Amino acid sequence: MKILVLNGPNLARLDIRDSSIYGDFTYPELVAFIEASAEALGFIADVRQSNEEAQIIGWLHEAADASLPVIINPAAFTHYSYAIRDAAELLKSPLIEVHLSNPLSREEFRHTSVISGVATGTIAGFGPNSYILALEALKKLLHK
Ligand code: DQA
Repeated sequence: MKILVLNGPNLARLDIRDSSIYGDFTYPELVAFIEASAEALGFIADVRQSNEEAQIIGWLHEAADASLPVIINPAAFTHYSYAIRDAAELLKSPLIEVHLSNPLSREEFRHTSVISGVATGTIAGFGPNSYILALEALKKLLHK
């Protein structure tokens, strides 16, 4: 089964972001890790990244039209993009919000997620394993 894994702004530059917060994986390494883990669980993960809100909204519309499950790390859009929230609300299949870091243990502006209210669930704080835990959750949700 195909799933979309959507990554928001600045995640493609993990190589130069603070490794004490985001870990040591580069973005290409993260993508390869997600793809391999997805395949082992029987999914084909289409992993995408954009720094642009409109692009992410378009991908969510695509997932809604095709009834695809979505794992999303909206990055900084998490905290203020009502437009991404409204697009996420259109999904018919599960939506799992993930974060590499634990936003609740960081600056106060990161304590709000406008996406969580329309997500099936949220997994945060486990580095790249947040995505793997999301894949496992998705598998359980779809096979219940
Ligand atoms: C993030 C957390 C966000 O607060 C931040 O803006 C990001 C990455 C994470 O994966 O930990 O860019 O979503």
